[in-house]
This record gives sequence, C-alpha cells and structure tokens, in this order.
Amino acid sequence: LRPFRVLGIESSADDSAAAIVSSDRTILANIVEKQHHIHASSGGIHPIKAQDSHAVGVPVAIGRALNEAKMGMDDIDAIADIPSGPGMFGCLSVGVHAARAIAVANNKPLVGVHHMQAHALTPLLTETEPPQFPLLNLLVSGGHTMLVLTTETKPYDYKYEILANTMDDSIGDAFDKTAKLLQIPWLDDQGPGPSLEAYAQPDPTNRVYDKIPPLRLPVPKELAFSYAGLKTKVVKETAKLFPNLQKPIPQEIARAMARRFQEAAVQHAIDKVNMALDQLEGKGEHGRSDPVIVRSVVASGGVACNAYLRTRLQQTLAERSPGTGLPLYFPPVALCTDNAAMIAWAGVLRLQARDGRGDELDEPIMKKW
Ligand code: KG4
Ligand code: ZN
Repeated sequence: LRPFRVLGIESSADDSAAAIVSSDRTILANIVEKQHHIHASSGGIHPIKAQDSHAVGVPVAIGRALNEAKMGMDDIDAIADIPSGPGMFGCLSVGVHAARAIAVANNKPLVGVHHMQAHALTPLLTETEPPQFPLLNLLVSGGHTMLVLTTETKPYDYKYEILANTMDDSIGDAFDKTAKLLQIPWLDDQGPGPSLEAYAQPDPTNRVYDKIPPLRLPVPKELAFSYAGLKTKVVKETAKLFPNLQKPIPQEIARAMARRFQEAAVQHAIDKVNMALDQLEGKGEHGRSDPVIVRSVVASGGVACNAYLRTRLQQTLAERSPGTGLPLYFPPVALCTDNAAMIAWAGVLRLQARDGRGDELDEPIMKKW
C-alpha cells in the first residue's frame, strides 16, 4: 500500500494555508498566504478584513499546494481541517467550508483536528528521531500559553492533560501588545513578535538598558501563566523614561525596553516549565503522588520561533539534569508559526488512529474540544 496523503487547510487567524503531507512523513507542499500587509497599519488582526482575505487566500493556497506537489485530487486520500479551532469564527469557517466541499465533491474522508494539538505534534513530523513519550509540551502562541502532558495511549493515539493555562493574556499577545506600545515597526513580511525580537537584540552601546531594572511581574503562585501584568509594567517603566507615550518613543528606549520585556516574558515561561517538571517528578507540596517520568520537552507555537526563548529553555533543561539532559525539541521556524503542514500531519495521525475512518460533516464549527 502506498503511503497515504492528506491535504490540510488552516485559516484560523491571519494566514491562509494549505499543505499536502504524506503518512511517510514527507511534506509534499506547504503554502502560507500571509496577510501581514493588510494588518500592518492597524498593528493587529482585523477580523472582517482577515475573513475577506481568506475567501481568496484559501482557494489560492489550495491551488498552489496541488501545483507545488504536482498533484490532482486523485492523488489525495483525505482532507484535514480544524472545525473547533481555536481561532476567529469567520476566519475558521472559510477553511472548514472549503475542506468539506472538497471532501464531499471528491468522496474523500475528512478529519477534524485541533489547532493546538497540531502545534504539539509537529516534531513527530519533523524530527528524524521523534520525541519520546510522555512529553511535556510548552505551547506558546498568539491565542494560548499552555503546558500539556502528552502520553501515547496506543500507536497514533494521544492523551493530552492540560497542566497549565494562562489566566489572562497569552505570551504571544504580550509580545504583540508590547510591540504596538513601543511603536515597533513590523519587519517586512513579519508580524509584531519577530519585529520585537529584532529590537530586543543586545546592544552594548545602548546605555538605557542598564537604567531599566529587570521587570518583575505579578505571577500566579500555582501552575498557571499570567501576562497581563507585564504589559502594565512596560507602560509604567517606559513612562518613567519618556512620559508621553503618544509621541514617537526614542529608539534607544524602545529597544532597551523590548529587551527587558523579552527577558521577563521568557523567564515567566521558564519558571513554569521548571515548576511543571518538579510537580510531575513528585517534588514539593503539589508534587504528584504518581510521579511521571517525562522523556522529552517540546516547545511549539509562534513564540517558540524566538531565539532567546530557545536558548534559555535549552540552558534550563541542561541545568536541571546535567549530563543526561532532557531532550528538547522545537519545530523549524517555518513550522512553528501557523501552517497547514501541521494540520495535515495531525490529520495523518488521526486517520491512522481511526483505521482510516473520517469524521462526520456536521461537526459544529468552534465546538469546545
Ligand atoms: O502559533 P501562531 O502562529 O498563531 C497562533 O496560534 O496564535 O503564533 C502567533 C504568535 C504571535 O503572537 C506572534 O507575534 C508570535 O507568535 N511570534 C513571536 C515570534 N514569532 C511569532 N513571538 C516572539 N518572537 C518571535 N520570533
Ligand atoms: Zn497557532
């Protein structure tokens, strides 16, 4: 039997994406139609403009994916979409309707996967030596900040235990709002997160950095994230140096504050990864009575593109278990932010777990997973 191929479609936020992935772990096509040029001027995603743009972007992406793979629908075995998102309803529905129409018209099975599940499972597609279970997922994106314990219950079937969620903003949101606040212009073809990261590059000639104390934010004592306080802190500290934030903020201040922000945002994530590992190992007051031996850590979602976060996480895990080191995995940058290859791949796994059976067509869009 030849490996089977899944066409994945993703339109949850501001990217229209389509990809074709084979069950032998080959990405045959991976197309992302970005909308940054539409949203750059407002500094955030405009839902109606995004939806309108998907109505063109989704079919264009599907056509380009088939072209890139030099395939027609006869070569595709199944379609994967994300009915439950999460994402913006109007945006999601453009992709879901396209996926369903294609599935019905071509008499192919359709599988629905969860966007965060797809982020979590990406390294199983991209690593030659895939991560071992149970694994701890740090999911850091624009919509979510989560720690998830993922175990394999039977081949291709996984159980997800959510250990931590954010109590307010996501880490991606914090990056995006801080970039706007510090008036950081978007890099070509990039959003606010990577643009802030570029501003946060250490610069020994920037004297302002030493004048700003490390940002301390109010964080929950329990295993949970909170990022709303960090934004307030950035406002306060910036205003001390430059009172009228409506006026153009001097470059030195914006860059120094971006660096302090990034340090604090990443430190909070690192602290919670440490706390989660301690608890899983059975340490401390909230340690598990049934300790879990985590075999690998996977960081994914858009913010996991961040090089500073990658380095700090690597250091942290090396310090925890000197010598042996808990293996750490990141998808390549292009597959860390939203893409359809991860949707198609999660579809491959779901089809395998269900012996090729698709999902029903009447799966409500945005049903809580
Ligand atoms: O996973 P993703 O593409 O979409 C969601 O599922 O939300 O994540 C998008 C988020 C945005 O907040 C974006 O600014 C952030 O990831 N991001 C970054 C970087 N690249 C993307 N944040 C910090 N540093 C980056 N290099
Ligand atoms: Zn995402």
